[in-house]
Amino acid sequence: MPDEEVTTGAPETESDEPNGTGSGSDLMEKVVGLCKRRGFIFQSAEIYGGFRSTYDYGPLGVNLLRNVKNAWWEAMVQRRDDVVGLDAAVLSPPAVWQASGHLSNFTDPLVDCRKCHQRWRQDKIDGVCPNCGSTGFTEARAFNLMFKTHAGPLEDEGAVAYLRPETAQGMFTNFVNVLQTTRKKPPFGIAQVGKSFRNEITPQNFVFRTREFEQMEMEYFVPPADAQHWFEYWLAERFNWYLGLGIPEDKIRLRHHDADELSHYSAGTADVEFLFPWGWDELEGIANRTDFDLSAHAAASGEKLDYFDPTTNERYTPYVIEPAAGATRTMMAFLLAAFDEDEVGGEARTVLRLHPKLAPYQVAVLPLSKKDTLEPLARQVLHSLQPHFMCDYDVTQGIGKRYRRQDEVGTPWCVTVDFDSLEDGGVTVRDRDTTAQVRVPIDGLVAELQRRVSAA
Ligand code: GAP
Repeated sequence: MPDEEVTTGAPETESDEPNGTGSGSDLMEKVVGLCKRRGFIFQSAEIYGGFRSTYDYGPLGVNLLRNVKNAWWEAMVQRRDDVVGLDAAVLSPPAVWQASGHLSNFTDPLVDCRKCHQRWRQDKIDGVCPNCGSTGFTEARAFNLMFKTHAGPLEDEGAVAYLRPETAQGMFTNFVNVLQTTRKKPPFGIAQVGKSFRNEITPQNFVFRTREFEQMEMEYFVPPADAQHWFEYWLAERFNWYLGLGIPEDKIRLRHHDADELSHYSAGTADVEFLFPWGWDELEGIANRTDFDLSAHAAASGEKLDYFDPTTNERYTPYVIEPAAGATRTMMAFLLAAFDEDEVGGEARTVLRLHPKLAPYQVAVLPLSKKDTLEPLARQVLHSLQPHFMCDYDVTQGIGKRYRRQDEVGTPWCVTVDFDSLEDGGVTVRDRDTTAQVRVPIDGLVAELQRRVSAA
């Protein structure tokens, strides 16, 4: 049944707000605008003029970000018997970062423009000041990206602590704890999702590069001889994860690092790259970290961080394959890939074609009319769905406008409760992408929507 023929208060063709038709060149502007307007992402401390490069995730953004992290956790931990989770501290002592190499190596080359005195990351500006166009710069100096603070009331050297610039080190420093408490043996992994902090010289492109961000990292400990096999295994696994959640094949690629690009710990790295509006850029790095971290922490701490294999009577320090993704950056890629503009009934609409597992709301329950007669049944339907799905409930304005609002934030299914529902015990389920509508009995609604999520 076409949208207009549903027994609704308003036709599908009404739109909330005027939209330009889809173009692509201004995609970034449109997505950033949508994020603010619909409550995905706000500038942090906005009422004080904003705090550069920090963002707050609003009511819809927090759902989307949580869904991205949950989808990662499901694939990397829940569905595996060889990976366990961890949630390590954000604050850590200098010894950790001394051993990991971050105190000496985690730097970017900083230059000052001699004309306008703006500071830039040398490797990001092609020799021309993006502010004034000058080509005169100071000598590059190594700028350490870690945020330094003091733990406790004294601000002296003995109280120095760092906010972690990656979640990875917590997995290495807990290697023995996890080994002993879980009885895992290589190959096995430790996974973690959480905040990391980097004092980026040039944070940019919305939440692509920020000073506070979230990472999803897994350290997979393997016998050294098997490292290359597992490196390739994780490249494929991680690439397919993005495809499975709806990133189109022509917007994602794998790129192997050249030797001069490798981090100080890496024997081989490949990036999963996404085609952002400014070109291909990194979503995730998959690295062969060798035994660098465990050996470095063992040497610095005096603790044994190795594995004794009782089947071969061999003791060895495992190599580590690390898929390291950014949760906030990945959320942005999902938003960009999902953003679309099409026409329904001759009118432009904005639609986020997010995978149902990622959408901030999977279902919106919409009573056709505000009349009291529909409200109790609509709320009953809502309550039956809430244990299974994140739901929105909207009674304001005509049904066409409400569909548009849900399309714009990516809600895959709208459930309309109308006057017939009181008689036939059915509701209309309307699909975001096709706008097709079908009648579904209320007592089969949860199963039908679960079937649709599984099939997506
Ligand atoms: N443990 C390895 C590691 O941290 P990385 O390539 O520096 O590797 C992994 O970071 C991922 O974290 C990146 O691919 C990116 O998605 C995300 N990331 C890194 N810096 C970021 C920043 N300043 N803002 C947002 N995301 C960032």
